Amino acid sequence: MSAPPIVRLPTAALTADCMACHREDYSGGVPIDTPIGNIYSTNITPSTRYGIGNYTEADSKKALRKGRAPNHQIYPAMPYPSYHGLTDDDVSALFAYFQTVPIVDTPLKKTTHLPFPLNIRSLMLAWNVINVPSTENRTGLKKLYDDSCAGCHMQKGDGADGAGYYPPLANNSKMQSKYYIIRVLINGLRGIPSFHSMMNDAQIAAVTQYVHSDLNNFTDTVTTANVAQLRHDFPPSSDPSE
Ligand code: HEC
Ligand code: HEC
Repeated sequence: MSAPPIVRLPTAALTADCMACHREDYSGGVPIDTPIGNIYSTNITPSTRYGIGNYTEADSKKALRKGRAPNHQIYPAMPYPSYHGLTDDDVSALFAYFQTVPIVDTPLKKTTHLPFPLNIRSLMLAWNVINVPSTENRTGLKKLYDDSCAGCHMQKGDGADGAGYYPPLANNSKMQSKYYIIRVLINGLRGIPSFHSMMNDAQIAAVTQYVHSDLNNFTDTVTTANVAQLRHDFPPSSDPSE
């Protein structure tokens, strides 16, 4: 007997995945619990008003592989990092499929409201597309810090005590340990979101270097290998304060 033909079913397998978060009719509105609060999935039917009816195929590629919707950055609750490897054919097949889905033309009952500053989509954009500075590039390091951390920890790392307590990162003896900083970023810590899926090793290393050296005058060198090691040893969910 000959072996059965190998059938690739990327579309069917993938759309089942989409359904899990966007509902069976793809109308969206499902809360995805994240460390930074609930993020609601959106309508991905071809509705031009509430869905993705205005998407071109190129838009779909960017949304699925890079998390860039035509006019905003998509939160990583939409797992685009895991769709990074989709081929052009996969995306074309998905795009064709979503043109055939019945339109749901109603607004979402619940939409995402994140507390300041996480409601700023440009912040997400910074997390994702910022050029990774080398640790010698002080301007690049500062920009990464300003875009991703200063919103809560303030520009000079002084911290803030207002709607919540945001500890200072400057002149903070705990910042002597680069490993502590990296672990906080990977695992989150109560009020701080986990940057695990938002930053790659080089970005975490760069911003850790900035906090360790520029804000505190400590002199260790932070490497991407340090970050990779800790991601491996302490995967997200272990509490760094233990
Ligand atoms: C783990 C849950 C999850 C899965 C799986 C998922 N999505 Fe999403 N998706 C979301 C969330 C949450 C949002 C809204 C993110 C935001 O508001 O920035 C979203 C947003 C989107 C958007 C952006 C819509 C827009 O313009 O605002 C598109 C397109 C999309 N998803 C398509 C898909 C497709 C296609 C699949 C399957 C291949 C899929 N999603 C699988 C959770 C998911
Ligand atoms: C949404 C607000 C927010 C953002 C953005 C944020 N943090 Fe935090 N961070 C916090 C809060 C709140 C705490 C205190 C957590 C606790 O102790 O409960 C904290 C704690 C920390 C700590 C531990 C401080 C200590 O004294 O133990 C470090 C290190 C840290 N953050 C680094 C960063 C870095 C680096 C960035 C940018 C990549 C960043 N944070 C972005 C809110 C934020």
